[in-house]
Amino acid sequence: MLRLRKKVSIESKKKTAMQDEKKLVTEQKKEIIDRGGTEDAQAKSGERRKFLMRVGWGSLAGFLAINSAAFLRFFYPRVLFEPPSQFKVGFPDEYPPGQVNSQYQREYGTWVIRLPDGAFFAMETKCTHLGCTPSWMESQKKFKCPCHGSGYYITGLNFEGPAPRPMDRFKISVAEDGQLLVDKTIKFPGVPGKESSEVYPQSLLRV
Ligand code: FES
Repeated sequence: MLRLRKKVSIESKKKTAMQDEKKLVTEQKKEIIDRGGTEDAQAKSGERRKFLMRVGWGSLAGFLAINSAAFLRFFYPRVLFEPPSQFKVGFPDEYPPGQVNSQYQREYGTWVIRLPDGAFFAMETKCTHLGCTPSWMESQKKFKCPCHGSGYYITGLNFEGPAPRPMDRFKISVAEDGQLLVDKTIKFPGVPGKESSEVYPQSLLRV
């Protein structure tokens, strides 16, 4: 009987020891898992911090680059490239009488015109109403403004529409090399109701 009781007691102690060991293993596992989670969280937090720092430095670098560029741009002069006021427009014999040469309209704002009697003059391509650019209508032998319909003869004298006066002329002469030379610094403004060829005979060139 005593031996049986002793055996039961030993068995019971063994069982308790096994349960304790099992419990210890479970706790150790849990601790490892917890520690792993904490390390993950720390690693993620570190990466987020690095990312935010990178964004911050990147923004600062961009800001400094833009400001530096603006600062340097300040030292470069703002040059407006305009065509020269004096320019050559070819030789007189390149111009048939009674023709309007629109070749210099876009770049120089000038028509070079040879009247039927052979005289040359240069005219500004600007309507005297509100400054639009008229077109030369070869078939109708007149300038027509697309904006409000003003009409001008080949001499620049206005005859229809709201234009208040003839179109302006520039000085034209012959350069040393024999080419025609237009000088936009010398201008002959149209006078209302008058032919510019009569008001400004010096605006005509005969060669
Ligand atoms: S601008 Fe030419 S008619 Fe008005």
